[in-house]
Amino acid sequence: EMLEKGGYEHFMLKEIHEQAFTVRDCMRGRIYPNEGKIQLGGLKDFDEKLKTANRIIIIACGTSWHAGLVGEYLIEEYARIPVEVEYASEFRYRNPIISENDIVMAISQSGETADTLAALEIAKERGATIFGICNVAGSSITRFTDAGVYTHAGPEIGVASTKAFTAQVTVLTLIAFYIAQLKEKIKPDAMKVLLTELDSIPDLIKECLKTEEATKYIAQDIKDINNSLYLGRGIGFPIALEGALKLKEISYIHAEGYPAAEMKHGPIALIDEGFPVIVIATKSSSYEKVVSNIQEVKARKGKVIAIVTKGDVDVRKSADFVIEIPDADDTFLPLLATIPLQLLAYHVALLRGCNVDQPRNLAKSVTVE
Ligand code: G6P
Repeated sequence: EMLEKGGYEHFMLKEIHEQAFTVRDCMRGRIYPNEGKIQLGGLKDFDEKLKTANRIIIIACGTSWHAGLVGEYLIEEYARIPVEVEYASEFRYRNPIISENDIVMAISQSGETADTLAALEIAKERGATIFGICNVAGSSITRFTDAGVYTHAGPEIGVASTKAFTAQVTVLTLIAFYIAQLKEKIKPDAMKVLLTELDSIPDLIKECLKTEEATKYIAQDIKDINNSLYLGRGIGFPIALEGALKLKEISYIHAEGYPAAEMKHGPIALIDEGFPVIVIATKSSSYEKVVSNIQEVKARKGKVIAIVTKGDVDVRKSADFVIEIPDADDTFLPLLATIPLQLLAYHVALLRGCNVDQPRNLAKSVTVE
């Protein structure tokens, strides 16, 4: 088993470290930065459908649902198609309004999640075109869909999803750019710039993995907490949700993800001395606003752990701990900021003596309701 773990103590740690390669594998043969072109063989028969779609509905559960939220930001931003993201279990028990001009896209690592498959059955009955973003080739969802894009992350053993998530986000980034290319929403020169930066992301993920020492140190400080809050804005919001989910799944610490500005509508009441707040505070259009959210936490003596862009000075002045990640366009933030949050959850769980790879009560794939 040690061999299977590639020398790492747990599958989860191995899978976290593999992300520099899995994100690369996911892009291989799909992006051509020098030509500013992107190709998705799995979707090419549906180019017309993608050009004329009224709406994309993304359906998923758990971590895959968080990837869906990232997809919503990216597809709306670049492809200018309205996107809705739904929990499969909710979608299937409503009376959803679906038309033939809708594309329903399932995201599922295993391709076997019962609720996701059942939601797709309803969408197909009502005439939607069905796409899948799956990791496991030949799985039930891949067999049910009209078309799809594999994530190519390789087998994921740790119950808490890591490399499958970043691969899903990579595929969604590719899909957003692909539709934008089809609809000519991005000029070829701008596409070259985006694809060149995307091509450099695996190297930046390697940089992010170097935050492990910092996360170990912070884990020592917070290992005995019972509650925590994760904040992010814009595309950082789903990353806050995913960071919180990782911590609760494997360390059993209660963790809530929130849009930073919503803090004042509830969670701020929780903050007292030493209450840990993990904030995604990288350089972006809402940076100043996040800095002021951090000050609100500090004014109540909360403990701020901030993910910042390398070289940041402002956040460092008020945060208790900072974790630096490389600078990149906001579009690629989810692929970078996620890494230290996975590492932090891992090291906290390890210090608490939890079963990191097989947390209590959770299953890798939920094939019953
Ligand atoms: C379970 C797993 C999660 C996963 C979710 C959805 O809850 O523990 O890690 O995100 O199912 O699984 P799927 O295979 O559909 O992505």
